[in-house]
Amino acid sequence: MNTLMRRAQQLQHWRTYCIKQCAVAATGNETAAKGKPSYEQFIDSRHQQAERSIVVQVSSEKSYNELYNYCSRFGHIVSAHHYTVQHEDELHYLLLEYANASDASAAIDSSAHSGELSGSTSVPVRSSFLWFRAAAAAAAGGRRSQAKLSAASAQHKTLPLTTVAGTQSWAPAQLQLLLRGAKSIEEQLQLLYEHTRLNDLGVRMRFLAALQVQRAIAGMFPGARAQPFGSSVNGFGKMGCDLDLILRFDGGATAAATGNERELSRLVYHTKENLSNGRSQTQRQMECIGDLLHLFLPGVCHVRRILQARVPIIKYHHEHLDLEVDLSMSNLTGFYMSELLYMFGELDPRVRPLTFSIRRWAQSCGLTNPSPGRWISNFSLSCLVIYFLQQLRQPILPAISALVKAAAATDIRVTEDGINCTFARDMERVAFGSRNTSSLSELLLQFFEFYSQFDFHNRAISLNEARALSKPDHSAMYIVNPLEPLLNVSKNVSLEECERLRIEVRNAAWILESEVENSTLTEQERHEQSWGLLNLFKHPEKAVIRPNMFFKPRMVEVSDLFEKAQHSNGASSTPSINYKNSAMRQQVQSIKAAARSELKQLRESSTATATSTSTSTSTAKSKRSR
Ligand code: CTP
Ligand code: MG
Repeated sequence: MNTLMRRAQQLQHWRTYCIKQCAVAATGNETAAKGKPSYEQFIDSRHQQAERSIVVQVSSEKSYNELYNYCSRFGHIVSAHHYTVQHEDELHYLLLEYANASDASAAIDSSAHSGELSGSTSVPVRSSFLWFRAAAAAAAGGRRSQAKLSAASAQHKTLPLTTVAGTQSWAPAQLQLLLRGAKSIEEQLQLLYEHTRLNDLGVRMRFLAALQVQRAIAGMFPGARAQPFGSSVNGFGKMGCDLDLILRFDGGATAAATGNERELSRLVYHTKENLSNGRSQTQRQMECIGDLLHLFLPGVCHVRRILQARVPIIKYHHEHLDLEVDLSMSNLTGFYMSELLYMFGELDPRVRPLTFSIRRWAQSCGLTNPSPGRWISNFSLSCLVIYFLQQLRQPILPAISALVKAAAATDIRVTEDGINCTFARDMERVAFGSRNTSSLSELLLQFFEFYSQFDFHNRAISLNEARALSKPDHSAMYIVNPLEPLLNVSKNVSLEECERLRIEVRNAAWILESEVENSTLTEQERHEQSWGLLNLFKHPEKAVIRPNMFFKPRMVEVSDLFEKAQHSNGASSTPSINYKNSAMRQQVQSIKAAARSELKQLRESSTATATSTSTSTSTAKSKRSR
């Protein structure tokens, strides 16, 4: 009887879920009706999905049936995803999505704290990050819940897992095989995009990380919103990309209207005064948030505060989500910039695959680097792609000024520091259609040719105007920030890196042009050798003289070169570096070996000519080993 009632309840939940989904689709604007949700709808639906979800650590995916069975007592589970995190061992997690947020809440509220179980002390924080203990331990730990447990043991028909090992990226060798098996460069470009972009589970996990921060301060700030932005949500992210997060205390970045009732209310909150200097206020608050994350939030570790940067951020790692997070509180333009990129990506199906291949090419030839520095960032690279697509004789993307002109009253967005982020959110209003029929591979070649010729020395790139302007200062590369036109997006890029980009785009254009020869390869030959994109990504070993070769940060410290020799003499106690990547280890070892033999030769020749030089070398060596 109980089982029947539970089943009826679940069917009711499922019905509510379906009705809600239909309602979202029906209330959407025209864009949504065409199957393309607007950015705000996309963000909202992912937030709601996170509110309906829990993450449970299990011993392996084999625990799924048991967990499903147990968790079904709280409500109807609509999707289930498995992923692993590589720690010392491989850790397994299941992300369960319920039909309703209240079901997920019920599951969370039923959970015990590990301190209660073991008598040890732990901070009793409520969150959606849980673990699944053995049934025997649960029974021993709480006889009072025996009745509930027996109800839980009723069998449910298990929903199949939507994904197994769902966050695993393709290994380079696998990807290489896949791309070799393609029929054309065109197909390679599509395959690369489809197999390396951030998947659905990756997006779910990033919104769960955001929700965790939001819930942590919800008591004091019920209107707070932690919004993912950047590559996690703009459609340009690849598997494993970091999560950029903006935390707002005031009701969320997307809240367009202020409550009328509140403006009329005669009751006013007592509050604390803000510090007169907004920036130091933000820094103080972030320091405090950093402590909160570090001390209380499960999964959050390696918290670092970078508060002196133009946009102060807190960086941390989430060990249950295997995620790097950059949390800011004062960069709302970044959020709206992500909206622009999202809209451009949605506008034409060529934009994202093209950007993906260019980002990957840049990574493979060392033009980009995950850590910030004097090299071009992925975001600047995306701006270069957008500008290229805007300036074509038959443009594929409109100028941002066209979006600004077409804005309606509901599109008005002004950040609290007065930056105007108003532009049309509905592309139908912009009435832009492209007649450009170029294929992806043609566009890729044109991109490289275009930037081989571009006058970075004198010209600045304006995405707002879709044309090049005179450069207002001496930065090596100038991309006008579309939302803050007084700022240069690529201000960090050094002259050497800009020059390297010019050399690499020329190399790339040359490689792609010579790929014409490979278009006649037989199917078997294509499977056996590198061709097309693979030749672009396999950075040519041929000696390309780079002007900044000598300015690059050293990958190997000179002292490393002596490590082995000193070890063999028993003179050094420096621990050797552990390279996780075996190819990298081999490369470093061969560099060391070559350098050692060169040094040896140098030393031998100098010993023969001057004894005094030899003495000073050994003095230097003994200093180093101390
Ligand atoms: N951003 C910006 N102006 C900049 C740098 C960044 O508006 N000068 C915004 C962009 O919306 C960008 C987001 O901040 O997408 C996050 O920046 P970043 O993490 O550097 O770039 P991503 O696009 O997220 O790319 P990646 O995958 O390398 O993290
Ligand atoms: Mg990012």
